[in-house]
Amino acid sequence: MCGIIGYVGPRDISSVLLSGLWKLEYRGYDSAGVASIYGDEIHLRKVVGKLHKLAQLLDQDPLKGNVGIGHTRWATHGEVSPENAHPQIDCDGKIAVVHNGIIENYISLRNKLRKAGHILRSSTDTEIIPHLIEEHFLKTHNFLSAIKHTVELLEGSFAIAIISLHQPDKIFAVRKGSPLVVGWGETENILASDIQAIVGITRKVSYLEDDDLAILTANSIEIENLRHGKVERQIFLVDGELWEAEKEGYPFFMLKEIHEQPRIVERNIRKFIQNRTIKLFDDTPPYLHNIHRIIIQACGTSWHAGYVGKYILEEWARIYTDVEIASEFRYRAQVMDEDTMVMAISQSGETADTLAGIREAKLAHLPVLSLVNVPESSIARESTHVLYINAGPEIGVASTKAYTAQLLLLYLFALYLKDLRGFDKPATHHILESLETVPSKMARILDHSTDIVNIATKYMKYNNFMFLGRWINYPSALEGALKLKEISYIHAIGYPAGEMKHGPLALVDENMPVVVINPYTRVYDKMCANIEEVKSRKGKVIGIATEGDTKMASLVDDIFYIPEIDESLTPLLVALPLQLLAYHIAVMRGLDVDKPRNLAKSVTVE
Ligand code: AGP
Repeated sequence: MCGIIGYVGPRDISSVLLSGLWKLEYRGYDSAGVASIYGDEIHLRKVVGKLHKLAQLLDQDPLKGNVGIGHTRWATHGEVSPENAHPQIDCDGKIAVVHNGIIENYISLRNKLRKAGHILRSSTDTEIIPHLIEEHFLKTHNFLSAIKHTVELLEGSFAIAIISLHQPDKIFAVRKGSPLVVGWGETENILASDIQAIVGITRKVSYLEDDDLAILTANSIEIENLRHGKVERQIFLVDGELWEAEKEGYPFFMLKEIHEQPRIVERNIRKFIQNRTIKLFDDTPPYLHNIHRIIIQACGTSWHAGYVGKYILEEWARIYTDVEIASEFRYRAQVMDEDTMVMAISQSGETADTLAGIREAKLAHLPVLSLVNVPESSIARESTHVLYINAGPEIGVASTKAYTAQLLLLYLFALYLKDLRGFDKPATHHILESLETVPSKMARILDHSTDIVNIATKYMKYNNFMFLGRWINYPSALEGALKLKEISYIHAIGYPAGEMKHGPLALVDENMPVVVINPYTRVYDKMCANIEEVKSRKGKVIGIATEGDTKMASLVDDIFYIPEIDESLTPLLVALPLQLLAYHIAVMRGLDVDKPRNLAKSVTVE
């Protein structure tokens, strides 16, 4: 996934493009570049590596002009190199393009361009776009039709922004499958892959739809849909505070986002629980009265949240709930009848496999209810109903606050469905009362972060970890392992503790720390037995336990306590020490916690 930005207006073009790219860097950070028009030339500045290198270059050699585009790249086609950095240009340097997405038929188009004499310098799919526009412009001398003709030839998903000496006061943008937002200023206009890069300029935004083509000048934005002609896209006023992502003094966004969790849970409790009544929908979606099965499909951390959702939906709402990895769900011959609802869970709302999963559901004419963070994202727009988790921008690649926000919404949805289906256990008011204690309990955990730092210091050099949980904290074990592996690059497995004897116990020795998630729940005693198994094989055990649990303290090598809470809600609390453990080990290993190697914040490619 890449980030693109375009600006036309009176501000300093270098600083506008750069500040926008800083907000988009989490989308990809292999290389970066900007281009602007001034004099009768397009000027380029491109670097390999992270954005700070582009900032240094622009400090020494700033761009000028009032029309510019920028790009931060997560390499899909073509290795990381200066030639492959965007913007990409045509033969004569009169057209510059930045692109997010994949052009699936680029090889055949590139061969045709080469046969026609075009000089292509990169190994990217993107580079064919300026050359195709050039090719058609030379024939028609109509730049807009050259763009339209080019876009018709492209197969795949893309969001592109184009500047050209042929139309030096304009930026052209096309959305097809990858997100693109335009921002309406007074004497300036802006476009970007998402709203974080726009709110610093204007809070008035419109979300382009597929096949939209936008033309931006300093004083106007025209939008037409390539299939339906001129269109008006709704203008939203974005909550700048919620979507202005700054580190605010934290060393990494991830740590800031971990510490935001109490406030986000508090905000959502106030939003979704009014007078001890759950308010999720203006009107109850009719299909909720008839469904007998839910299929939750998601990826990564969102899948872990869905797995917790499975346990509570089945126990509280008595509804069969399947949890699928989206990239598997979309290719399996699904048995889905009309009483099935599909739920997508996605922080970004742009994950390609999850998006494809809901399209499969809709082909089967099934209702899709999605839990999403980013407003108006593709998954949000294509779902029958969407519940926004309101976690604000999550910049760190490792998902933290979105995970607990997803969990909260799943608990509330399970209670809502339980009541709708006429079940009375557990008592809704009892769970709501427990949920209302979560923010302060989360805050208490964060106040004891130094306990986690001490554990991280002791275990940071180990190269293998195991995370064990049972019942509703089996997904917590999976999530703890994912957090650690994705930002510290340490091999970590999450396992259901009951499976130890069926193989994983063979892995245990003094070189394999085992994190055992064992707060007071119905499986507490079983988990204690698992700890004994590990200890008898010289394994080192890090226990996550309930405050005051002296038995666990006697069993394990190191312990971290969470406040007592209803057993079903323990995933909301155990998530925090697991996040902090991964964070501090990664920092101690000197790694870039927010931008781990090989990963991107949202996987918009399959
Ligand atoms: C989680 O820490 C990872 N960044 C990753 O697994 C992520 O949860 C997954 O890619 C799904 O993203 P989404 O929620 O935006 O769909």
